[in-house]
Amino acid sequence: MCGIVGYTGAQHAAPVLLDGLSKLEYRGYDSAGIAVAQDGAIAISKVTGRIANLQEKTDNGRLVPGTTGIGHTRWATHGAPTDFNAHPHASNDGKFAVVHNGIIENYLELRQELTRKGYRFESETDTETIVHLVEMYYQGDFQRAVMKASARLRGSYALGIICTDEPDRIFVVREASPLIIGLGIGENYFASDVTALVAYTRNAIYLDDGEFAELTPDGVQVFDCTGHPVEKKINRITWDIQAAEKGGYEHFMLKEIMEQPRAVKATIAPRLKNGEVSLDGMDIDLRRVNKILITACGSAYYAGCAGKCTIERLCRIPVQAELASELRYADPLIDDKTLLIVLSQSGETADTIAAMKECQRQGAKALAIVNVVGSTIAKLADYTLYTWAGPEIAVATTKGYTTQLTVLYLFALYGARKLGRIEMEEYARLISALKALPKQMQQVLDMNPAIEKLAKKYHKHPSMFFIGRNTDYAVALEGALKMKEISYIHAESYAAGELKHGTIALIHEGQPVIALCCNEAVTEKTMSNIIEVKARGAEVLAIAFRGNAKIVSLADDMIYIPKSDPLFCAAVEIVPLQKLAYYVAKENGCDIDKPKNLAKSVTVE
Ligand code: AGP
Repeated sequence: MCGIVGYTGAQHAAPVLLDGLSKLEYRGYDSAGIAVAQDGAIAISKVTGRIANLQEKTDNGRLVPGTTGIGHTRWATHGAPTDFNAHPHASNDGKFAVVHNGIIENYLELRQELTRKGYRFESETDTETIVHLVEMYYQGDFQRAVMKASARLRGSYALGIICTDEPDRIFVVREASPLIIGLGIGENYFASDVTALVAYTRNAIYLDDGEFAELTPDGVQVFDCTGHPVEKKINRITWDIQAAEKGGYEHFMLKEIMEQPRAVKATIAPRLKNGEVSLDGMDIDLRRVNKILITACGSAYYAGCAGKCTIERLCRIPVQAELASELRYADPLIDDKTLLIVLSQSGETADTIAAMKECQRQGAKALAIVNVVGSTIAKLADYTLYTWAGPEIAVATTKGYTTQLTVLYLFALYGARKLGRIEMEEYARLISALKALPKQMQQVLDMNPAIEKLAKKYHKHPSMFFIGRNTDYAVALEGALKMKEISYIHAESYAAGELKHGTIALIHEGQPVIALCCNEAVTEKTMSNIIEVKARGAEVLAIAFRGNAKIVSLADDMIYIPKSDPLFCAAVEIVPLQKLAYYVAKENGCDIDKPKNLAKSVTVE
């Protein structure tokens, strides 16, 4: 995934572009660049590495004059992260420059055609085909050239394009990649998401797939793919600037871990009315649903694995959790009695979008649980329940995951009530248990020193195991991913009961094993597994509810968490694992907010 920005108005464009790119750097940070129109030419400056390198190269934009420009921060797909592969890309005649987020799937055939016609390529990227197409179709009409070039593209693209002949005009195009226009007074902006706009304007237009727009300092006009003007709603951005800043924390990830009690509370509060779970806009007739299919990627998928147990237990409907990248090609058994639940923090994950479209094509209704308002998945869904986590900047999700869990718990309670499968007394008790989650999470967050100390003990190991059963295993999946993606330690989650079927061969003297023992229905069994791995020399860190006195005699280290209802405890149990991963990564000197090879949202297949 990449980040694109653009500005046209009376200000010096380059500093605005650089500031916007710095807010989008979490979307990809292999290379970056800006292009600004000035005096009949387009000045392009681009670098390998971080935005800071670009700020230094352009003296914070001072060396690139002009009032209309575009910018890009890259997560490499086609072509290594190098200066010549960095965006923006220019046409051979120097008249045009383009920035692009997405993938042009037919770029090879376009490249061959354009090369045959004499266009010279300077990069390995798919994006460069776009700017040569615009040049090829340009006969004096910028809009027409953009429309004709866009019509040749297959794949996903959010584009920003400038032209030397019309230096205060920008065209933007959206197809399956997010593109938001920021409306100013005498100036206008575009960006991949609102975090790059919120410092300049709170009035935003969300383009839809197939639409393009013309931006000038005096106004914005949106068109459909045939060139007919389209009236668009002006949305008010409610995120405050501090929400998208670090707020005094050393890393966004730590800030977002600490924000979880507030985020979970904000996600629950508007959905509890007069002692009932109220899910606005949800008019799904669950009596007609005979299967619930949860699909997502990464941590969102692991949230689905944990939520599956709770929904099945309360709604008594079969629930399957499937990886979106698998589901989209699995020819799944789906019909109009299937309810699809799609989980995504960004709402832009390509595999999740593709799986969702395939399931909808086969008749399933889709309920999206997303964090980014107006995101692609939110727009495609039949029903949408937002997580109110606020902007999540760190690549490793934390509050995105726990608020997804929270919405799944709300849905489970809502479904059980609608289906008449829960006694009112149990319903009320579980609503109280849900409301207690923020406080229980806060108690774990207040345990800082103990977890930091454990991180110092375990951070040097090359590998770790995370084991558990049922919901504990679902949490182990997410705990292992957190450790892998920010500390680069090989961490494997394993169903505790499965270890003896082979993997226990890997347990050597001193091997760290994190044992999750909060699902009280199976804790005794997991404790037996602790004994098994201890017998082979493992060093065991156990996570258990306060009051479980037995386990302390088995484990080498303990993290006790407040006792919460087994149906909801995953939201509390994950918190010490998030912090353990954070402090281990810190001990190892890793780039916690922008881990190597990763991007915040993977908008490519
Ligand atoms: C989680 O820490 C990772 N960054 C990654 O697994 C992420 O959960 C996954 O890419 C899905 O992203 P989404 O929730 O935005 O769809």
